[in-house]
Amino acid sequence: MGKTLVLSLMVGMLAFASACSKGGTTTALNVEDFDYPLASRDAAAGEQVYETFCEGCHPGGMEGDGPEIVGAMLTRAQMRWRVRNGGDDMPAFDESKISKTELDDLLAFTAGFQAVSLGQ
Ligand code: HEC
Repeated sequence: MGKTLVLSLMVGMLAFASACSKGGTTTALNVEDFDYPLASRDAAAGEQVYETFCEGCHPGGMEGDGPEIVGAMLTRAQMRWRVRNGGDDMPAFDESKISKTELDDLLAFTAGFQAVSLGQ
């Protein structure tokens, strides 16, 4: 490989990296931004949220169209991030679907089957 090619590849990678870190073209959410204390822990309300939005793919926390989440022991931040961000085959749920309070209620409910650890 010629020096010019290597150099232009590096310049291209740097440009790409800085575009990503500025967040200009991407809407990626950071897990760390979801690391804050629980505002609510109404597990009964959380169960309603789960049945409405999650049960279809994670029935009873078990494998369905999504993986089993029982015992996953995610941190609060990881669980909140997953719900807000979605995944390759999981839809994202923003505040118009699941409010901030409902999200924490959902954490309280899913902690009941160790999908998330509320201590973290
Ligand atoms: C349309 C199906 C679908 C729905 C609805 C859905 N999920 Fe998922 N979920 C998935 C799939 C598929 C994955 C695997 C990751 C991916 O898609 O990239 C996943 C991954 C996860 C994970 C990560 C598991 C791990 O071990 O890291 C958690 C936690 C999770 N979902 C929780 C939820 C919660 C809570 C809800 C409701 C708010 C929900 N999911 C709604 C399909 C779904």
